Amino acid sequence: MTITFITGANKGLGYETARRLIEAGQTVLVGARDAERGQTAADRLGGRFVPIDVADDESVARAARDIETHEGHIDVLINNAGILGSHAPTEELSGTDAIEIFNTNVAGIVRVTHAFVPLLRLAEHPAVVNVSSGMGSLALTHDPDRVESKPIAPLYTATKAAVTMLTTQYAKGLPDIRVNAADPGYTATDFNGHSGHQTVTEGTDAIVTLATESPDAGTGRFIDRFGPVRW
Ligand SMILES: NC(=O)c1ccc[n+]([C@@H]2O[C@H](COP(=O)([O-])OP(=O)(O)OC[C@H]3O[C@@H](n4cnc5c(N)ncnc54)[C@H](OP(=O)(O)O)[C@@H]3O)[C@@H](O)[C@H]2O)c1
Repeated sequence: MTITFITGANKGLGYETARRLIEAGQTVLVGARDAERGQTAADRLGGRFVPIDVADDESVARAARDIETHEGHIDVLINNAGILGSHAPTEELSGTDAIEIFNTNVAGIVRVTHAFVPLLRLAEHPAVVNVSSGMGSLALTHDPDRVESKPIAPLYTATKAAVTMLTTQYAKGLPDIRVNAADPGYTATDFNGHSGHQTVTEGTDAIVTLATESPDAGTGRFIDRFGPVRW
C-alpha cells in the first residue's frame, strides 16, 4: 500500500488531497504544525497525524523520526505547506518579510526533502510532489490573458518561482526519485479568503495526478489540471 506524507494537511488543498488519496486506498500521514488542528483533521480523514512545522529544523527532524519509527518509509512526499506572507505595499516589503516567507515556502521544502529522502529511498517507486503555483511562472505572470498576470505579490511569486526551479533541479540531482511540481490554479481556500474560482477538488487534481501516476510518468515536470504549465 502506498504511504503518502502531506505537509499542511489540516485544511485547504492539503486536506482535500489527503481525503482523495485515502479514498483512493492510500495510507496518508497528515502533517500539521498545530496539534489540535492536525489531530482533528486526521481523525476526520482517517489518517495518522504527524506534527510538523516546516519552518523549524528540529520539528522536521522529529517528524522524520516519528514516521521512521511507525511506518518505516514513505512512497510519496507532498510538500504542500505554504503561506502568502506580508500584504504590505511593494515599497514597504522588508528583509524580515522576505526571510519569513522564503523560510516556509522554499527552505521548508529543502528542509523536509532533506529529512525524508532516506525514507523515500526505501520505497520501490519514490515520488516528491511540490505544490508550486502559476504565480511563480515568468511566462504566465507576463501573459495578459492569464489571471496570474494581474496580482502584484513580489515575495510570494518569487518563492513559487523558486519552488518550480527547486523541482527541476532536484529532479536532476535525485535521479532515483520522481520530483514534480503542481500548480493547483486559483482555488477557494482560507489562503485567498475563498475568492478562488475553483473548488478544492479541482485545485487538487494536479497534485493527485502526480501522487498516483505510473512510476514511468517522468520527473522534473510542472503541471496543472489541464497539462504542462509554461515556466
Ligand atoms: N489556494 C490557491 O489558490 C493556491 C494556488 C496556487 C498554489 N497554492 C499553494 O497551495 C498550498 C496550499 O494552499 P491552500 O490554498 O490550501 O492554503 P491554506 O488553506 O491556507 O492551507 C495552508 C496549509 O499550510 C499550513 N502551513 C503554513 N505554514 C506552515 C508551517 N510552517 N508548517 C506546517 N504547515 C504550515 C497551514 O497550517 P495552519 O492551519 O497551521 O496555518 C495549512 O494547513 C500552498 O503552498 C499555496 O501556496 C494555493
